[in-house]
Amino acid sequence: MEIKRVGVVGCGIMGGGITLVCAQSGYQVIASEINDELLSKGLASINSFLSKSVEKGKISQKDKDATLGRIKGTTTTKDFSECDLVIEAATENIDLKKKIFAELDKVCPKHIILATNTSCLSILDVAIVTTRPEKVLGLHFFNPVPIMKPLEIVKTIITSDDTLETGIDFGKSLGKTIVIAKDTPGFIVNRLLFTYLLEAIRMLEAGTATKEDIDAAISLGLNHPMGPLTLADLVGLDTALFVASAIYEEFKDPKYIPPTLLKKMVTAGQLGRKTGKGFYDYK
Ligand code: CAA
Repeated sequence: MEIKRVGVVGCGIMGGGITLVCAQSGYQVIASEINDELLSKGLASINSFLSKSVEKGKISQKDKDATLGRIKGTTTTKDFSECDLVIEAATENIDLKKKIFAELDKVCPKHIILATNTSCLSILDVAIVTTRPEKVLGLHFFNPVPIMKPLEIVKTIITSDDTLETGIDFGKSLGKTIVIAKDTPGFIVNRLLFTYLLEAIRMLEAGTATKEDIDAAISLGLNHPMGPLTLADLVGLDTALFVASAIYEEFKDPKYIPPTLLKKMVTAGQLGRKTGKGFYDYK
């Protein structure tokens, strides 16, 4: 089926990035938030990213205006009734996601695909609250969405082949490299990433090395663009805690038990870049 209009639920770091990439790829996008304030904030970040791209000479002012012209913001779920595909990128909370999927199922035409950008939750659990579970799949983007190449496409045991094919074609049209994963916690990337991030936090906790040295050793020694603690700050420590806990919940493998330091930092509101403080200070 041809996709012209994409809906994106949530206009935070991930939803905003997905909105931007879809609009830059020529899709009409309807982006939603729970209130006007968050919507304005999300759309302002997209605007600011495009302005910087114009300043750097990467795109023209005309390209920027055309991209923004393809994005429409809303705070009303029923606006998604005009979409050919809806991607949910709300907070990682299974009850919230189930509620969103039940609402989307009511307003969206029965033939359209509903996708979730969840990084660790069961896609099947949200699929079964809809009347079209075979048309539900995971489209898991990476942060920052405009830069990161991969798109994990997650197929549940009831996702249809047609739905998967449409997801693959759509992902390719965004210029992403597609990898396909089963509907298991953490899929491919986060299942591996979190053994590494959590161990780096445990090393810091144990005083094995300073945060700067852990990061420098990895970024230089393994040629990673950033070390694990800087990356954890980028991912968001609340998200990191949530993903680790969700993977642990399913596998009961102790390597996914969140370290005490991570839990304490989240309790203290030190969530990484988004709050201005995590392992590092961003103020
Ligand atoms: N959004 C869009 N573009 C961004 C960006 C952002 N948040 N941050 C940086 N960029 C762009 C910059 O504008 C710059 O573009 P130009 O080359 O056009 O100037 C380019 O990226 C490089 O940026 P910088 O020079 O500022 O810094 P850098 O070279 O260190 O790159 C980075 C920044 C791209 C974030 C890089 O450090 C990187 O790739 N880090 C690893 C990111 C990563 O691993 N992400 C996956 C996280 S895990 C995940 O997302 C899964 C999950 O479910 C938790």
